[in-house]
Amino acid sequence: MELTTDPRAFQAQCMDMRGQGLETALVPTMGWLHDGHLSLIRWARDNARRVLVSVFVNPTQFDRADDLEAYPRDLERDAALAREAGADVLFAPEASELYAPDHATWVRVPDLEKHLCGASRPGHFQGVCTVVSKLFNLAMPTMAVFGDKDWQQLAIIRRMARDLDFPVRIVGRPIVREADGLAMSSRNVRLDPDHREQAPGIHEGLRMVRDKAAEGETGPEALREALKMFYAMRLPDGVVDYIEFVDPEAVTPVDRLLPRTLVAVAVAFGPVRLIDNMLVGTEVA
Ligand code: PAJ
Repeated sequence: MELTTDPRAFQAQCMDMRGQGLETALVPTMGWLHDGHLSLIRWARDNARRVLVSVFVNPTQFDRADDLEAYPRDLERDAALAREAGADVLFAPEASELYAPDHATWVRVPDLEKHLCGASRPGHFQGVCTVVSKLFNLAMPTMAVFGDKDWQQLAIIRRMARDLDFPVRIVGRPIVREADGLAMSSRNVRLDPDHREQAPGIHEGLRMVRDKAAEGETGPEALREALKMFYAMRLPDGVVDYIEFVDPEAVTPVDRLLPRTLVAVAVAFGPVRLIDNMLVGTEVA
């Protein structure tokens, strides 16, 4: 595996691969790699000729300076894990190399940003779309792999790639969880032991909603109330940011459960904000 920090060198290398007609898969990450990321890299290894992984803690998608500051980083560890999972090139630029000091161009998909994290983290998805566009233009991959864990992000990137004609196939992969059900996240290491013990309740609550939906409960309001109560008991220190029932593609709230409805939640334990989601409804029961 090769480690590249220079955007121009990375682009030249990727242009070469594309010129040779190789299928390449890009896996964009912010590092502190865990099994969720590694599942994407392994999928890429099994489905493409070359695997490109980026590790970049993108400052433009953070709405809080303390969160950016506290984001865990360890490039040496990430490089070893990425290599083991099958990466061919690891691209890890400095922010000052990726963004010109007078960077002034932004990519947005406003219609898909109105709910969930788009509503509670202003500017977040504009930062994501802009950096992913830059990564697409540097890596020129034939496909790019993302996790369902960040469902809204995936929906937005799919729409952006379609609307702007990026010649990239967007691939979504399932959420990887800890044995106790907590969705893997680079932020989990920042949970104190008490909160780490409560956090699997996020997923337990989603399973409860799925079961109630399978039993025929179709009103999002009743399901939201049930989930709120469950969280109040199971996550006494968790502050619920949102519990939303949305159309999985449009990311807009539904007033009746559709055959496939996405339940998406965000819960904060102190400064650590966790997200999770699950598809519920008759088609996914
Ligand atoms: P990051 O949070 O590092 O996640 C990188 C990729 O890994 C995303 O596609 C995310 O959905 C996926 N992922 C994270 N946890 C996962 C899990 N438990 N199971 C499956 N996939 C998981 O998402 C970002 O970085 C950034 O916004 C980025 C797209 C890199 C742009 O900066």
